[in-house]
Amino acid sequence: MSFTAPITLPGLTLDLAWYKRAVFYEVMVRSYVDSNGDGAGDLSGLTSKLDYLQWLGVDGLWLPPFFASPLRDGGYDVSDYQTILPEFGTLDEFRDLVTKAHERNMRIVIDLPINHTSDAHEWFQQSRSDPEGPYGDYYVWSDTDEKYPDIRVIFVDSEDSNWTFDSERRQFFFHRFFSHQPDLNFDNPAVVAATFDIIRFWLDLGVDGIRLDAIPYLFESDGGTGEGEPATHEYVRRLREMVDRDYPGRILIAEANQWPNEVVEFFGTDEAPECHMAFDFPAMPRIFYALRSQSATELVRVLSEHTHKPSFASWGVFLRNHDELTLEMVSEEYRQAMYGWYAYDPRMRVNVGIRRRLAPLLDNSRAELELVHALLFSLQGSPFLYYGDEIGMGDNIWLPDRDASRTPMQWTPDRNAGFSTADPGKLFLPIVQSLVYNYSHTNVEAQLAQSRSLLHWVRNVIHVRKAHPAFGLGSLTVLRTSHESVLAFVRDYGGSGTPFGDQPERVLCVFSFAHNPVAVDIDLAGFEGAAPYDLFGGAPFPTVRDDGVLTLTLATQNFYWLHLAAQASTEL
Ligand code: NOJ
Repeated sequence: MSFTAPITLPGLTLDLAWYKRAVFYEVMVRSYVDSNGDGAGDLSGLTSKLDYLQWLGVDGLWLPPFFASPLRDGGYDVSDYQTILPEFGTLDEFRDLVTKAHERNMRIVIDLPINHTSDAHEWFQQSRSDPEGPYGDYYVWSDTDEKYPDIRVIFVDSEDSNWTFDSERRQFFFHRFFSHQPDLNFDNPAVVAATFDIIRFWLDLGVDGIRLDAIPYLFESDGGTGEGEPATHEYVRRLREMVDRDYPGRILIAEANQWPNEVVEFFGTDEAPECHMAFDFPAMPRIFYALRSQSATELVRVLSEHTHKPSFASWGVFLRNHDELTLEMVSEEYRQAMYGWYAYDPRMRVNVGIRRRLAPLLDNSRAELELVHALLFSLQGSPFLYYGDEIGMGDNIWLPDRDASRTPMQWTPDRNAGFSTADPGKLFLPIVQSLVYNYSHTNVEAQLAQSRSLLHWVRNVIHVRKAHPAFGLGSLTVLRTSHESVLAFVRDYGGSGTPFGDQPERVLCVFSFAHNPVAVDIDLAGFEGAAPYDLFGGAPFPTVRDDGVLTLTLATQNFYWLHLAAQASTEL
């Protein structure tokens, strides 16, 4: 069976590879719109903004957990997977969101943290009080805290061990994250069955995809690192089998903060598939490194690495999300450089990363915001935007942990930035009121009213991307350039195998990270005589010379997306 060939029914084409061309938008329900004035965002509020998201060009929403939870880890500490936290709404309101999103051809991806639960989950409460009972073996218990010494601690700022003593059961329980988030015991078949049931429950409600939170960490083994153990891959393979069999067209997205050769394991193979998508953690910090070092070398290196992935697989590329800008995938030397550039105040750091939003990271430089978005929308894979970044929202580093960049969405210059009608003191987090990012000027309404705003610019680029299948479906080949600040690659799409008809095309993407204008020679051997034109305005550019070189000049931190049209004599 081909996993990407479209299914065609009379009057309807189901594109199984929809996620490859989709633009995703991560939105925290709590932070977006408060429809009932209680100070926290909710599902109905989000539903009321679907028109805005459709206008922006969003094809899929990623919703971090909105289930019952004590909210000690932004909802990633679930106390009941089949109940919605009352302050966020009801199952009926969720159904309504799914229906109204689907009416707009927009998909909903939900986030399922199944590696661990909250310690408030009924399963854990029973497990600690009744070791011989039905939930006694649901968690990873031990008489010592010395088991699995090779498994690293992830939240280094708050935890110094993966084991915590439970005074009731008088044993230690294992946790990869906070000590209030005990890890489920996947060696217990009942846990495997329970997690499958939860996933089916949400797929039955119509969700289009599941982000598998913390997926590398499901299984532990003696002597292992607890990351991507063979049993974990076996679990994901079985899950994928179930999805392909019973829910074709729905997708699984891996959150695996690992090196490319380890992440690709979560795609599996064409014969034994695992996840449809995986976040590209290695590319992200290198984009930020390139901006300050003015060198594209590290980016060129990761983009040139040929990690083989199956035909259905696609990367999820991103600049920022609800977590810290993680620096786990860079060397110590680069990490220190990035702390120096981007987190000069220790308050900006958390764990192995930086807890700031995109615009403040880039010091609100419009040139840099445009450059990184242009990269985001042209790299191989599907882009994931983080709510608020489309208007260059700021952050609040005086708030604890990652709340710094989870503040309410800024819609208008009115009370509570139009997010809520509650008394400002009642908001779950305060609105950003800093000098540079104050909601009185950084808001959707103001940017809608200004045709050259970042919001309009981002929307325009999204629409240009969507008009060209090469971005979603094409291969990416990095080109040699004469300037270390310049990254150039070709996106090449042969033009078959989608329900959108044949549209072969090649797009040359060029980015300069230099802090001054540059001239650069790009090695386009094989494209001699090709006549590029600008994808935005259609202006013709000089043709590729007979020696296969294209010479371009780029303004400071600028970029081009050029259609590589063929001359009559050149077969492209
Ligand atoms: C990954 C999530 O992205 C993060 O927000 C959370 O804290 C950890 N998983 C632990 O649940």
